[in-house]
Amino acid sequence: MPDNSNRVIVAGISGSLRPGSFTSMAVRVALRGAAQFGAETRFLDLREYGLTLLDEGPEPPGARKWRADFAAADGLLLGTPEYHGSFSGILKNALDFLGFDQTEGKMIGLVGVSGGSMGAFDAMNGLRSVGRALHAWVIPKQAAVPEAWKAFSEDGQPVDSEIENRLREVGQQVARFAHLHKCGQIREFLEGWERAPVNPGGEIRID
Ligand SMILES: Cc1cc2nc3c(=O)[nH]c(=O)nc-3n(C[C@H](O)[C@H](O)[C@H](O)COP(=O)(O)O)c2cc1C
Repeated sequence: MPDNSNRVIVAGISGSLRPGSFTSMAVRVALRGAAQFGAETRFLDLREYGLTLLDEGPEPPGARKWRADFAAADGLLLGTPEYHGSFSGILKNALDFLGFDQTEGKMIGLVGVSGGSMGAFDAMNGLRSVGRALHAWVIPKQAAVPEAWKAFSEDGQPVDSEIENRLREVGQQVARFAHLHKCGQIREFLEGWERAPVNPGGEIRID
C-alpha cells in the first residue's frame, strides 16, 4: 500500500454519455479497485465539460477544466462501449482535446463494454494504440464486459463476481503502477510491471 505522501489520484472516464450507461457502471467498479489500493478516486463525467466536436468552433469553456482534471490524475481508467468494432467517438473527441502536457507518462487501464457476447476487444485494442500515441503507459490487464445489458443489477453492481474482480483488478493495477511510477523507484516499477501479467495466455476471456 502506498503511504499518504505518495498518494495517487486515479480518475475514471466513461466514453458513453447515455443515462444508465453500463460503461459508466463498469468504470465506477474499476475505480473501487483503485480505492482499495489506497488511491484517491474521481469520476470525470464528460457530460459536465460541455465539449463540442474538436474545431467545431471556439473552444468550449469546459475544455480548460477537462485538461486540468485529466492532468491532475496519475492514473486513468478509460471506459468505452464497443461501437461498430471500435471505441466511442465521444471518448476519442475528449482525448483529442488533450496534448502530451496532460497525457505523457500517465498510467492507463482499459475497460470495454459490449452488447454482444464477444466483448469489446476491438474497442480496447484501438484504445491501446491511442494510449501509445498519447505517450501514456497502458497496462497489460484490461477488463471486458460482454452482454452488458445483463451484467449489472439495477443499482449498478456487477452480477458476476468474476467480472467484478476483473474490473477491480484493472483499477488496482493502475493505482499500483501509478504509485510506482510516481515514487520514482524505477527498479521496483519495472519488476512490478513484469510480474503483472501472471498468466497472459490464460487471462483471455472468451464468452
Ligand atoms: C452505434 C452503436 C454501435 C454498436 N456496435 C456494437 C458492436 O459492434 N458490437 C457489440 O457487441 N455491441 C455494439 N453496440 C452495443 C453497445 O456496445 C452496448 O449497447 C453498450 O452497452 C453501450 O454502452 P453504454 O451502456 O455504456 O451506453 C453498439 C451500440 C451502438 C449505439
